[in-house]
Amino acid sequence: MSDAASVPALPSPALAIVRDILARLAGEPGALLPILHDVQDALGCVPAEAVPEIASALNLSRAEVHGVITYYHHFRAQPAGRCVVRVCRAEACQAMGADALLAHVERRLGCAMHATSADGAWSLEPVFCFGLCASSPAVMVGEELHARVTPQRFDSLVAERQAAP
Ligand code: FES
Repeated sequence: MSDAASVPALPSPALAIVRDILARLAGEPGALLPILHDVQDALGCVPAEAVPEIASALNLSRAEVHGVITYYHHFRAQPAGRCVVRVCRAEACQAMGADALLAHVERRLGCAMHATSADGAWSLEPVFCFGLCASSPAVMVGEELHARVTPQRFDSLVAERQAAP
């Protein structure tokens, strides 16, 4: 991304939120990551339109800010689906079939890793160890962590989530 590239403006309520965060944090050492976290917490993502504002406040290039956003999978350019599913991709879970489980999860949710389903219901993200290695493979559905998840168990978790009010 070039600094000269034109980026659409943020809608003013979002811009006000980003500017408040920048006013609070931009002067702190190592401010970029805390700013990105706060922007994502407030807006559900770090929109591309916020990058020039953040870069300018920190005296960085847009490319530098964009590089950090894309380096950390935690940050999103678009809001997540209504429910985020996180599948552990670390060694112990892989040894217990997490690759096959992930393939099943992707089919079941209709989206790939780092993506959101077309209906906006699900986003799928990797995690590198939940600390449940002895009970792997582990999956988080929304805020709930589940151990020893099989494809069948995952389908039950999805059905429970879909049936919830
Ligand atoms: S490796 Fe998956 S929970 Fe630790």
